Amino acid sequence: MPANTLPPPAHIGVIMDGNGRWAKKHFQPRSMGHRAGARNFRTITRYASRIGVKYLTVYAFSTENWARPAEEVGALMGLFKDYLQEALRDFMDENIRVRFIGDTSAFAPELQALIREVEEASAPKTGMVLNLAMNYGGRAELVRGARLFAQAVERGEASPQDLTEEGFARYLYTGGQPDPDLIIRPSGEQRVSNFLLWQCAYAEFVYFDILWPDFKTQDLDRAIAIYHSRQRRFGGV
Ligand code: IPE
Ligand code: IPE
Ligand code: MG
Repeated sequence: MPANTLPPPAHIGVIMDGNGRWAKKHFQPRSMGHRAGARNFRTITRYASRIGVKYLTVYAFSTENWARPAEEVGALMGLFKDYLQEALRDFMDENIRVRFIGDTSAFAPELQALIREVEEASAPKTGMVLNLAMNYGGRAELVRGARLFAQAVERGEASPQDLTEEGFARYLYTGGQPDPDLIIRPSGEQRVSNFLLWQCAYAEFVYFDILWPDFKTQDLDRAIAIYHSRQRRFGGV
């Protein structure tokens, strides 16, 4: 399929799912599936930036993923470290600004230091914003937002009567960013799994029966073409 002639939606979310099943299919341990998934994340991110996506939010680790066996969680943490180190080298010439959404304070100090380094090093970038959702959960984000708002009220800086939807959205990790237009979930699952619960209110969902490590740039083009074929009504007619 040729690349789309219409511009891509401004904000795309991707639930990078199916690494474990990919590994199983290739008779490999799950950690190898995550390795393949992480490699693909780089390919798709660069492509998204090159075709003009303004915001890309990728779901890398959920607040529920801690429930996995310690060995798998450990392998994922190791990969995050490797990839952030690599990001410091290569994303830097890509004009991509990296932000982290989720409670990163739960990670090991070494990983937290890398997270800060990547955020700081890419802060001057003016191209695509890449939100890496790590230890992210939509419900946790909303509770955190409610807490931050309550604290602002306590300090006398905000008042409950004046709270609006736009005002509350500023207390979320994505404050100041547009809502996702398109959310893509590979792997065959058709559920939201606690991803961007507030922000997805009017997102178009595209589900593919492809495991994340097999998801190609052409599949991103295809998802964008499907997005363009949809009629968004936002409650209107
Ligand atoms: C997604 O792949 C990666 C993470 C959730 C960290 P999975 O590991 O969920 O892969 P499946 O769903 O088991 O195939
Ligand atoms: C969602 O995938 C989280 C990420 C891709 C990071 P899961 O594999 O954790 O979701 P469920 O368990 O299938 O709903
Ligand atoms: Mg999964």
